[in-house]
Amino acid sequence: MPDTVHVASGKVREIYALDDERLLLVASDRISTFDVVLPTEIPDKGRVLTGLSAFWFARTKHIVPNHLLGLRDDARSTECRRLAMLPVECVVRGYITGSGWKDYLASGEVCGHRLPEGLRESERLPEPIFTPSTKAQTGHDENITREQAAELVGADRLVEVERVALELYRFAAAYAEARGIILADTKFELGLDEDSCLVLADEVFTPDSSRFWPADAFAPGGPQASFDKQYVRDYCESVGWDKTYPGPELPDDVVAETRAKYVEAFQRLTGVSFDDFLADPEVVLQ
Ligand SMILES: Nc1ncnc2c1ncn2[C@@H]1O[C@H](COP(=O)(O)OP(=O)(O)OP(=O)(O)O)[C@@H](O)[C@H]1O
Ligand SMILES: [Mg+2]
Repeated sequence: MPDTVHVASGKVREIYALDDERLLLVASDRISTFDVVLPTEIPDKGRVLTGLSAFWFARTKHIVPNHLLGLRDDARSTECRRLAMLPVECVVRGYITGSGWKDYLASGEVCGHRLPEGLRESERLPEPIFTPSTKAQTGHDENITREQAAELVGADRLVEVERVALELYRFAAAYAEARGIILADTKFELGLDEDSCLVLADEVFTPDSSRFWPADAFAPGGPQASFDKQYVRDYCESVGWDKTYPGPELPDDVVAETRAKYVEAFQRLTGVSFDDFLADPEVVLQ
């Protein structure tokens, strides 16, 4: 790509500058668990992330503007507006699981939200909650209170971010529920454009940024089956990995099953066959 300059590598994406205002985000097939990129790739995973994000960007414009400018024919490259990213991860939880469950067990709270007593693991919360975390340059993001997040982005901006994040979550959770999928929790990254307007960026409602549970198997009181990285996390834990670099190789059957879960999430949520998307990526925008 002679007209582009490589500016950064994330755990999953390669970031190129097209010019001063535009980036090209190329989603690789890399998978990270516990913030470590594994040595084995999941074929087409980057395409699933790209297609799902674009699908949601096209459907959430009425809630908040987003960075999407276009998709390339490889189905893994997104042209987008270059933003000044906010230094917080915007997490919304509708169910109590993951680090939220750990925090709740320890303190009865998540990011300063006091929750009802006696919740079971994976239970639905009375209301979705906004639970920001730090955006660690290396290592793990940490849950923070809204007061701490306000110090990072400003109090007024945080009010806007929380309102937008909750509205996005409610919209997608209802959409997914109608398709038999529970959106347990999700993470957004937002940025500011040249006019300091809030813009949704990065990836949205993908199996990397969200926990998707099949609704027909939902059974609170323990962990849930899922269409996301949980399957790979569980495999990595089952082999006794200490969650530090390097991660374990994934066997072929785990790769195939993970790919199938990602593709199924794509197809169930978008209603578009994955092959149709590969043939013409912009079908997800319609
Ligand atoms: N429109 C945008 N403008 C500027 N940066 C963006 C935009 N959209 C996404 N990004 C950034 O691009 C990167 C995407 O790469 P990737 O998802 O692989 O990173 P990550 O591993 O999640 O996080 P890290 O940034 O810690 O490497 C993130 O750092 C994200 O903040
Ligand atoms: Mg990312």
